[in-house]
Amino acid sequence: MSRLITRNRVIALATGVMLVAAACSGGSGVAPTRDPSLPPHVADASNGEKLFKNESCSACHSTGTRRVTGPGLAGIAQLAATRDAALTADEYLEQAIRDPGAYVLDGFGNLMPNTYSRLPQDDVDDLIAYLKALPGGG
Ligand code: HEC
Repeated sequence: MSRLITRNRVIALATGVMLVAAACSGGSGVAPTRDPSLPPHVADASNGEKLFKNESCSACHSTGTRRVTGPGLAGIAQLAATRDAALTADEYLEQAIRDPGAYVLDGFGNLMPNTYSRLPQDDVDDLIAYLKALPGGG
């Protein structure tokens, strides 16, 4: 009898641990790491374009000069290089996506969600490739 109880306890405990593990692994915030055995990712601007729509970037940003909630992103490739002297254009764009509060553009509120930090690195690279391919503001 007591042995049976002990065994059931062990099973209950193990199930509990698995549930906690499952809840954590589906969690938010931490970007999934990439399998290091895969070949290096080649940034794909056309996937970046899809992400720009699917991740709702386009709800706040035009790809021209029109201001919505956020700035129009025309010419962002050139602008990104001038925003922060300590950052390259790519570094600035990654920071703008993952940690938008780190640099808030003059004339705008800190309104961009910081949930994009959950995006896998490949997706961020694809978004950056897309943004850098946008034509200038003229
Ligand atoms: C809820 C509205 C909102 C959403 C959604 C949003 N942004 Fe923004 N974004 C802003 C605002 C407002 C700013 C300007 C304030 C700041 O610098 O954080 C901004 C700034 C930026 C900048 C810097 C622009 C510059 O000229 O320096 C980039 C790049 C950018 N966003 C890209 C993105 C991308 C890519 C996505 C989707 C993954 C996205 N944003 C989603 C509102 C948004």
